[in-house]
Amino acid sequence: MAKKHKANQHPKTESTFDFSTLLTYCSEEEKEKFRQGLKEKSVSSLLWNSRHFPLNALLDSFPSLRRDSFDELCFYFDKDEDRLGKSLEHFAGGFYIMDHSSMVISKYIAPLLKKEFLSIDLCAAPGGKSIALDMRREDGLYLCNDISFERANEIVKNATRLHLDNILTLSLDPMRLELEEIFDLVILDAPCSGSGMLRKEKKMALDFSLEKVERLLPIQENLLEKAYELACKDGYIVYSTCAFSTQEDEEQIQKFLTKHSDIEILPIEKEEKMIEGVNHLGYHLIPGIYEGEGIYFILMKKTGGSKTNVEEVKYKKASLVENKKVITYKNKDYIVPRFYDAFSSLPFLSPGIKIYDDSPYPKCDFDHGYCKVATSLPLLSLSRSDALSYACGNEIKVEGKDDGLYIVSYEGLRLGLGKKVQNKLKNYLPKGLKGYYC
Ligand SMILES: C[S@@+](CC[C@H](N)C(=O)[O-])C[C@H]1O[C@@H](n2cnc3c(N)ncnc32)[C@H](O)[C@@H]1O
Repeated sequence: MAKKHKANQHPKTESTFDFSTLLTYCSEEEKEKFRQGLKEKSVSSLLWNSRHFPLNALLDSFPSLRRDSFDELCFYFDKDEDRLGKSLEHFAGGFYIMDHSSMVISKYIAPLLKKEFLSIDLCAAPGGKSIALDMRREDGLYLCNDISFERANEIVKNATRLHLDNILTLSLDPMRLELEEIFDLVILDAPCSGSGMLRKEKKMALDFSLEKVERLLPIQENLLEKAYELACKDGYIVYSTCAFSTQEDEEQIQKFLTKHSDIEILPIEKEEKMIEGVNHLGYHLIPGIYEGEGIYFILMKKTGGSKTNVEEVKYKKASLVENKKVITYKNKDYIVPRFYDAFSSLPFLSPGIKIYDDSPYPKCDFDHGYCKVATSLPLLSLSRSDALSYACGNEIKVEGKDDGLYIVSYEGLRLGLGKKVQNKLKNYLPKGLKGYYC
């Protein structure tokens, strides 16, 4: 039954909390910049998928993009002018829309990691932190987990759209992850009060309370312990929140350091606009001062523990398709990344890229995601107008090509599958994707 509002009760539309009181690590001048920044529009940015989408194609499509001076993969745009999330290039995986502050962490951690590292992201959905790192380091294996099944599904969709075939997706309570201390990197982007997002997500500001902060503290503390358990000797732990309060940030880290004498804080060459945390523990990115929303992050290294070498396990049950490893998981065939067998006992949501379409009456043998990695099918490159028409679900007129199955592409980005019969290309995009970008 719907709740009745009392006559004099109006739903709150503006938070009355003064968030600048949380910025104890800022000077008065910086707090004033923050208050002014809150009156401005949030900054929109994208992470360029440089492995798959040429720079000139990105800039031809969106000439008003402005590149960040520090991060070559970050471009700013005006979301009222360019609706990039609804563009063909987004559909095709040319970029990932992401707040600049959230991308920064990967920029710092990417050069530190050894070749072919193992990474686990405990609270990963929709995948941002791992995706940003994957865009810089394709040699890693990324285990991405999120407690929410619905949100974890978004990781699978994003990884497929962006042509990322080295991501294994899980949906478990991270505290129940029974894995050894084998990871070269543990990413903990912890559930938090979300105060840092107040400019972008008004609901966060309304939802904020000091009680909410208190409620989250033990969860963050336990997750940090889990991160410690999973990192190997000389492995890195990245802790981040989108919270301003030191309780969720520096104080958590201080407690963590007290428990573990083998954790080292890694200093970074910070940009001027980053604010150093209390007692040099991490960095705050503050809207109005930094180009992006509010983030706290710290890089750490675990110097103790043991070094388990995860050998590339022999793929006993695996066969090879197009030189890639293939396994059968829950009766479906997947192309899996290296090291998969080391984790094969985990209940994956997706252990890689599904090959065959298992819907009751598939139009095509192959699953849509397979088009992103297949090497045995020919590519059919379309003009922008034909690619748009294809993304809308239409048949395309094609001449001068043999009949058969094709991977339909635009500027190097793979859109989906299609079958040429006479002078027409039948559209094999799955129903859920068709027409979305029209
Ligand atoms: C800040 S978001 C993660 C954002 C993500 N890392 C990214 O960059 O796209 C935090 C995540 O924590 C998960 N979460 C919420 N409560 C949790 C809990 N009690 N334990 C573990 N994870 C939780 C949420 O489902 C959410 O996806």
